[in-house]
Amino acid sequence: MAMLSPSVLSADFLRMDEMLKTFEENGVDMLHMDVMDGNFVPNMSFGVPVIESVKRHTKIPMDVHLMIDRPHRYIDDFASCADILGFHFEAGSDVEATLKQIRSHGIKSCLTIKPCTKPEDIFTYLPLCDMVLVMSVEPGFGGQKFMPESLKKVEALKAEIKRQGLSTLIEIDGGINKETAPLAVAAGADVLVAGSYVLGSKDIAATVKEIKSL
Ligand code: DX5
Ligand code: ZN
Repeated sequence: MAMLSPSVLSADFLRMDEMLKTFEENGVDMLHMDVMDGNFVPNMSFGVPVIESVKRHTKIPMDVHLMIDRPHRYIDDFASCADILGFHFEAGSDVEATLKQIRSHGIKSCLTIKPCTKPEDIFTYLPLCDMVLVMSVEPGFGGQKFMPESLKKVEALKAEIKRQGLSTLIEIDGGINKETAPLAVAAGADVLVAGSYVLGSKDIAATVKEIKSL
């Protein structure tokens, strides 16, 4: 059974309480919080105060996806509201030091790769990662089309995680829906991020159950 991390980027923020209740009742595993700075990606979203506010209203762990330049500058700030904190390999920070910085706060670390990055480029960092995130769209916006090339990357990472004897989870993010989710799970993804498909659906509870049953 796959874990589900719905992306709050597609949420109606004024109906957050209702959404969190539905997520809790239907066993959502994590809440995916997309942080964008208008530099690393051509879009802006929210930061620590919004995540802290959501966290106060739910026990669901916060899965924070930083899409910001030189993320090491903000790790200590986001550590206060994240349960899993991830940043991009391509974002200009020292990868090893930043992963260690995250773990030093007693929270889980995640390293994320854009579609242009090869999985082999992060193999050496896997022992420092509780999770790796494979982007299956160009980061920046919800509602984009799934890139099937990302499946090969999930397979390669799964094989390497096994070879190194690690328990690192693989998360996939972008364009996940009822057609693409089974492909991602078959390739080895453990955690599915879904924004527009879950939050844009008429029956959020049914859609959560559908994805989680894969
Ligand atoms: C894109 C974000 C995603 C996005 C996913 O940069 O990282 O988490 O919200 O949205 P969907 O599921 O609509 O592709
Ligand atoms: Zn994301």
